[in-house]
Amino acid sequence: MTTPSSSADRTGFGCPVHAMGAGASSRPGCDPDRSDAPAQPAVAGSLTYGSYLKIPELLSLQQPLSDGPEHDETLFIIIHQVYELWFKQQLHEAGYLAAALLRNDHPTAASTLRRMLTILKTMVAQIDVLETMTPTSFTSFRSRLSNSSGFQSSQFREFEFVLGHKRPKAVTWQAEGSPERTLLERRLAEPSLWDAALRYFAANGMKVPQELLQRDLTQPTEPSPALQEELIRAYQTLPSVRHLCELLVDLDEGIQEWRYRHVKMVERTIGMKMGTGGSAGVDYLRSTLFRSLFPDLWEIRSRL
Ligand code: HEM
Repeated sequence: MTTPSSSADRTGFGCPVHAMGAGASSRPGCDPDRSDAPAQPAVAGSLTYGSYLKIPELLSLQQPLSDGPEHDETLFIIIHQVYELWFKQQLHEAGYLAAALLRNDHPTAASTLRRMLTILKTMVAQIDVLETMTPTSFTSFRSRLSNSSGFQSSQFREFEFVLGHKRPKAVTWQAEGSPERTLLERRLAEPSLWDAALRYFAANGMKVPQELLQRDLTQPTEPSPALQEELIRAYQTLPSVRHLCELLVDLDEGIQEWRYRHVKMVERTIGMKMGTGGSAGVDYLRSTLFRSLFPDLWEIRSRL
């Protein structure tokens, strides 16, 4: 790998395409044969692409368990790890979004929601990659997974809580005393994005019922007919509130889309077999479809 030396390049990355050696010569300004292209070897102790991004550590984390190992187990591991990274980024963005809503900063809230939606589209599209794995190929290493399952993804549960799908029971699915359980307990007690949106609505002239502003934060979002009346009024008179609400509907629909693509992928891969996590599998996953995160925003639609 080459180490960039351009003075304009403070990260030490240079052109990432060039650094990775892929298709570089077709990019303007990134020709490895050019005499002014950076060609110095890495200097011991200086920041490089690999040391900044912890590439050696990252690449050591894919450890198949099957004998051989089975070819597709690497894909299975990498795709789950990539999802966990996206969950981490979504949680990072959700915290930023909640803070923007609480200080009534519409531009930041809207742009953060846009980013979350773009990531979500990538997360949904990634299911296509997993669908290139055939049922026989998955069966060749499935027994190695033992009882482990995406059902145990603690970041996914954190994301559900942040989105307002709170269930105290989901905390008990993590081992007692584990860091994951502690984090989930914290998320359970924190305001969800909908709680932050309620404060944003109140700051923009909507009459938000007091009981919603003082609700038990550990409970899921419930529809409120009184709030729905206010939302209908806001859709007609408050364009920025309407804009934000539509982005929240996009997010809600996007999560439902991920669930749908996941269950269809599961059905084509394992049919009606039980899940490794012990659930009924496809039947369980179907029961999680079409549950809306922001029910008021769906309830009002036939009256708009
Ligand atoms: C061949 C690939 C996959 C199969 C066969 C599969 C199968 C299943 C099954 C059967 C369940 C139900 C729980 C159980 O009994 O295990 C489940 C849940 C789950 N899976 Fe997957 N899955 C696959 C890939 C993925 C990927 C790539 C992710 C990304 C993180 C993922 C995330 C989840 C999550 C978050 C749940 C819990 C859903 C909920 O409770 O609402 N799965 N999966």
